[in-house]
Amino acid sequence: MVPSNNLIVSLKDVVAGYTTTGKGWRSLFKHVNVVLKNINLRVYDGERIAIIGESGSGKTTLLKVILGLLKPVSGRVEVLGKEIYRFSWSERVNILKQIGYVPQDPYKALNPKLRVKTIISEPLESTNTEPEEIEGRVREVIRMVQLSDKILDKYPGELSGGMMQRVLIARSIIHDPEILILDEPTSALDVSIQAQIIELINNIHKKLELAILTVTHDLGVAQYLSNRAVILYRGNIVEEGYIDEIITKPKHEYTNLLIASYKASI
Ligand SMILES: Nc1ncnc2c1ncn2[C@@H]1O[C@H](COP(=O)(O)OP(=O)(O)O)[C@@H](O)[C@H]1O
Ligand SMILES: [Mg+2]
Repeated sequence: MVPSNNLIVSLKDVVAGYTTTGKGWRSLFKHVNVVLKNINLRVYDGERIAIIGESGSGKTTLLKVILGLLKPVSGRVEVLGKEIYRFSWSERVNILKQIGYVPQDPYKALNPKLRVKTIISEPLESTNTEPEEIEGRVREVIRMVQLSDKILDKYPGELSGGMMQRVLIARSIIHDPEILILDEPTSALDVSIQAQIIELINNIHKKLELAILTVTHDLGVAQYLSNRAVILYRGNIVEEGYIDEIITKPKHEYTNLLIASYKASI
């Protein structure tokens, strides 16, 4: 589908990092360890975009900023036209319901004490959805991620890595979000499973027509899961454009290095 011009996420001149406090009297002084230097990013309705960068470049930090979990030191963060950090926590949570999120490591992300059906329906908790409707939605998304409804009564420990990732994807779309954000969606999985998960994400994109934002260190994954990409290097976006053009005509030295290591790996 052709992306429309509606902005789903917009970051303008975002600077963000983590506050550290010293020991003893130094604890009176807060210091921000800046991770994201000056980020400008726009994600449009229905598009597939990737953020590519090596480990430690600030990818997960960038997602925390978008997910309302890390207030930037400066700059604007808008989700569906609303500047999220200007709202109270509860209002912010409401706006952020338009986002579906699949965290980095499926093995760590799932609460081992909860049954799969509780995990999947979690985004609908504290909404006014009737139990029968929740049940119906759970069955709908479990089919969409091609799992049998037999697994609904199981616990995460009984599932394979690929199944866990499908459960997380089911949970991320149950509330019909405008955008699906995936943090390294294949990196914790066996190579044989990675292609299946990529195909599943692309099928969901076609069916639900939502925007897909994938964070990855892997150019190959980005090529399959996005049309447009930005390259993040030490907290700066050093290059952006169509992924095929970035790969064939890289402009930045760091992008060249990424491509060389990608080509060496295939
Ligand atoms: N909770 C945190 N507190 C302090 N520093 C952090 C925290 N999380 C990440 N960092 C630092 O921020 C930098 C970027 O980390 P991250 O955003 O996780 O990178 P990536 O996801 O690209 O691997 C790293 O130097 C990391 O050590
Ligand atoms: Mg990360």
